[in-house]
Amino acid sequence: MSLKPRILVTRRLPPVVEVAVQERFDATLATDDHQFGSGELQRALSDFDGVLSTVTDRFTAEVLAAYPIRARIIANFGVGTDNIDGVAAEAHEIVVTNTPDVLTECTADLVLALILMTLRRTGEGERELRAGRWSGWRPTHLLGHRVTGCILGLVGMGRIARAVGRRAHHGFGMRILCYDPVSPSPVELAAVGAEPRATLEALLAESDIVSLHCPSTPETRRMMSGLRLAQMKPGAFLINTARGDIVDDDALIAALLSGHLAGAGLDVHHGEPRVDPRYLGMENVVLLPHIGSATRETREAMGFRALENLEAFFDGRPVPDRVV
Ligand code: DGY
Repeated sequence: MSLKPRILVTRRLPPVVEVAVQERFDATLATDDHQFGSGELQRALSDFDGVLSTVTDRFTAEVLAAYPIRARIIANFGVGTDNIDGVAAEAHEIVVTNTPDVLTECTADLVLALILMTLRRTGEGERELRAGRWSGWRPTHLLGHRVTGCILGLVGMGRIARAVGRRAHHGFGMRILCYDPVSPSPVELAAVGAEPRATLEALLAESDIVSLHCPSTPETRRMMSGLRLAQMKPGAFLINTARGDIVDDDALIAALLSGHLAGAGLDVHHGEPRVDPRYLGMENVVLLPHIGSATRETREAMGFRALENLEAFFDGRPVPDRVV
């Protein structure tokens, strides 16, 4: 019988990470990539000492009420932990960790990709070309919006937002506005040339592009309501790489159809992997399947970060990325 802690991994991980988890723990790896349901998550909590979960595993208060609970740690593969009810985890004395830092740069790269795709209509162009509908170069074909020099409003000013700001300001000459209830330090603002705004409304009214960088919390869910979208500049663009439920889809679709907003770039979706079908036919919406951190380098680093948290916990050392 192994004396190593028993760990369940809920999804396939990059092979080097799976090998490392198996070396260090008595690990049960996922053999396929199905999303775990409540019953499976409860069995994981009852049968294993720790769970290496991902952002799609919904540890609700009901799931965490599993009995008996053997697991003492959920090491989440992801920086967001909105899939885990923190209050319930704490009540059951389960430590929760995340994987910050290592996905910052790649996620910021994808935000810039979405901005470029949305304003320059690249998805639309590629669809036209692949469908054999391109009739050749002409001066009025697929005119988009100039990206260089736009005013970019960052909602939330954490690590990813600052990395986006650096790229947009220094690379694309954008003026950067930001709003975060927790004021960023003057040094952080200066690194991006960012001008803070005292209210979200002020930021929305001035920005050509609004990019969301806040976690999904009870306060931010549906934060981009009809009212807030109406406060955005006419002809502005919304970019969401944070969480789908921060945006009210009915309101966004209405704002896009009315022409108040010129376009949206969405990497995250409420109720993933379902995507609101109304978006599918909208040419001014760029839709990506939650791939902000999806590079080999980053996904390996996220795996090793989750592993480090498990190792520290079971070695009795301080856990580096403890959120609960
Ligand atoms: C996260 O880490 O929270 C992302 O959404 C997945 O990379």
